[in-house]
Amino acid sequence: MADISFSEGNSARLVAERLRKHAEAGRLPAFMISLVEHLHSLIREARPSAADWRKALEFLTDVGHASDDRRQEWVLLSDLLGVSALIEEINTRRPKGATPNTVRGPFYRADAPRLPLGADICLDGVGVPLDVKGRVLDLDGDPIAGATVETWQANGEGFYENQQPDQQPEFNLRGVFCTDAGGGFHYRTVRPGGYAVPCDGPVGRMLGSIGFPLRRPAHLHFLIKAEGFETISTHVYDGSDPHLSEDALFGVKQDLIGEFKADESGQRWSLDFTFVMVRAKKERLAT
Ligand code: BEZ
Ligand code: FE
Repeated sequence: MADISFSEGNSARLVAERLRKHAEAGRLPAFMISLVEHLHSLIREARPSAADWRKALEFLTDVGHASDDRRQEWVLLSDLLGVSALIEEINTRRPKGATPNTVRGPFYRADAPRLPLGADICLDGVGVPLDVKGRVLDLDGDPIAGATVETWQANGEGFYENQQPDQQPEFNLRGVFCTDAGGGFHYRTVRPGGYAVPCDGPVGRMLGSIGFPLRRPAHLHFLIKAEGFETISTHVYDGSDPHLSEDALFGVKQDLIGEFKADESGQRWSLDFTFVMVRAKKERLAT
């Protein structure tokens, strides 16, 4: 008779066999089996006491209690442990020269206003002026006209409009633009400030207590869509931010660092950035 007594040596196998026997075929069971195997080997290696494990479960319970439609501590945990960034890497591997994706983050709003090129997205007039000019090209360097460019960013103090509904005008520092015939777009805004990810929940408290970096270097967010191309969801970072090397979310890549340049007066800044899109997979196979 097969060994049915649960032991340290056979624990993962017993659970995996049970899952295999009872779970329906498909992706979830294979993932679950792998999860169990990794979890059991983690426990064998770390050897937590029952009290330590209870504490870990209490933390996960707190993460769940702190998550709802408005706030997602699970997503924050995935972001800060680099899991969200890894999932982006696996799913949107792009050819050299194409703009990489990064995590979208919780502050995106799908209902931002469409604006004419040249519009000022800073609605409260607070901050250091920044002129953003961009181009959307394909991998051959040809312009993509009619691409939709959505942008959102924090203000100079590092807060998004939807974090401060009583202090910032609705849709402050957000807008949707359309590229012109040369693939270009431009708008006015203010320099974004860096900020810390939310630290008042269980994830920020736990990781903050061990000195884990929770800061995000200053950045602009972009979501760029064009017919027949893979959507770009990314950041452009301020290359002068001192926290570039320890972005809490592991989003900084060389290709995403922008140079914010001051004019002669030192009062007004500009950024010129080129985004490169790749054809959607089906189209890539067809060409
Ligand atoms: C952000 O870049 O806006 C962001 C992303 C993930 C967690 C917190 C903030
Ligand atoms: Fe952000």
